[in-house]
Amino acid sequence: MKKNHSATLTINNKSYLLPIYKASEGSDVIDITKLYAESNHFTYDPGFTSTASCQSNITFIDGEKGILRYRGYDIEELAKKSDFIEVTNLLIYGDLPNKRQLNKYYKLISKHTMVHEQLLKFFNGFRRDAHPMAMMVGVMGALSAFYQDSLDINDPHQRMTASRRIIAKASTIGAMAYKYSIGQPFVQPDNNLSYSENFLNMCFSVPAEKYKISKVMSDAMDTILILHADHEQNASTSTVRLAGSSGANPFACVAAGVASLWGPAHGGANQAALEMLETIGNKKNVPNFIKRAKDKNDPFRLMGFGHRVYKNYDPRAKILKQTCKKVLKHIGINKDPVLDVAMELEKIALKDKYFIDKKLYPNVDFYSGIILRAMGFPPEMFTVIFSIARSSGWTAHWHEMIEDPVQKIGRPRQLYSGNKKSVYGKKRSTKNTR
Ligand code: SDX
Repeated sequence: MKKNHSATLTINNKSYLLPIYKASEGSDVIDITKLYAESNHFTYDPGFTSTASCQSNITFIDGEKGILRYRGYDIEELAKKSDFIEVTNLLIYGDLPNKRQLNKYYKLISKHTMVHEQLLKFFNGFRRDAHPMAMMVGVMGALSAFYQDSLDINDPHQRMTASRRIIAKASTIGAMAYKYSIGQPFVQPDNNLSYSENFLNMCFSVPAEKYKISKVMSDAMDTILILHADHEQNASTSTVRLAGSSGANPFACVAAGVASLWGPAHGGANQAALEMLETIGNKKNVPNFIKRAKDKNDPFRLMGFGHRVYKNYDPRAKILKQTCKKVLKHIGINKDPVLDVAMELEKIALKDKYFIDKKLYPNVDFYSGIILRAMGFPPEMFTVIFSIARSSGWTAHWHEMIEDPVQKIGRPRQLYSGNKKSVYGKKRSTKNTR
């Protein structure tokens, strides 16, 4: 890391020199690794709003300017010119592959699209109405029971094999979760299809009739996968890194990432956003919901709005808004009440002082649900699709974390505010909180 200059922290008239390292883009960092040892003080930052957990070369976000780049390439360019497997290769290896490397990578990934036959038994253990994310978490974690030849995290070849298995099988498992939830037979992967075509085919084809893959739909699916592939140190990626820092196997780490992504404040927001739009139901109800979103006493929030980093429009939402219109036009929906509600919500919110002051803009989850619903997916499948895409970012960060010479087990400290030493049986000064 390039040392820039230093910061001085003074505590009780004692000064501590903290090195500052220069970022290639974005904010520099103040190195506090020695602060506790020298000052007996921790830093305090719930939610890590001002804390860099690691050094990374993978993704850069500028929240003020609404910039998102994977390995230096703007997301707008990648969404237009690349495809999900090429973007996955870029995230993991660090630069765009040439034609030969890309063809080889397609073959390497497609070699792993099938799952062990015994994994099918896992699905039979779920209720049919289980949330598909429950199946995703369970089956992704269970992969570590079937692929013992790629669990040694100190062997680069095994690490690469494990990541290819995760990326290839994520879509097969996601499609199986969908088929299981609607009581239809599983559809085997078809390696003659692209990654996105294969996923749509595994979800929507049935033995009774051939499924005709539409290019508009498979292109839209590929765009969704590219846009959701990575996003710096978000909650689920940080979960994968933290789990990986203990030496846990990659399948278990990615299962932990799936679990974290499921939350409605994170990847679960696309399902919550569509359900919110459907609850609003009509443009004329929008002002009332905006009023509720601003009311401190009302827990209601505009799902699909706001972001920890973007204090400007999420560049992914801009791209998805265009994709949304293309998909709806393709299926002949000129008037979609839910899209009308979304556009009205966006129009009013972007003019409203509360949202402007708090810099709340539509995020990636605001439009993705409308597109996925138009494709025929139920809301419960939206976060599954997000987790399939993010499997490439999670594995890229997992590799980077393992190869980082300074990485060690993640173990944050705390500000302890609990009881002081107490004697068993003696009345305590603090009141019993039970
Ligand atoms: C994703 O981190 C990533 O990169 C995630 C992600 C990725 O690709 O991995 O981009 C994917 O998770 C996108 C975000 C999806 N979540 C939602 O759409 C859920 C709704 N959004 C909020 O829950 C919220 O905006 C968060 C969780 C996204 C961000 O929360 P922060 O950064 O902790 O901000 P905050 O909750 O402190 O909010 C700041 C203020 C608060 O008001 P005050 O306490 O300052 O008075 O803005 C308000 C909040 O009440 N606010 C909202 C709001 N989001 C924030 N008010 C109404 N509606 C909202 N959606």
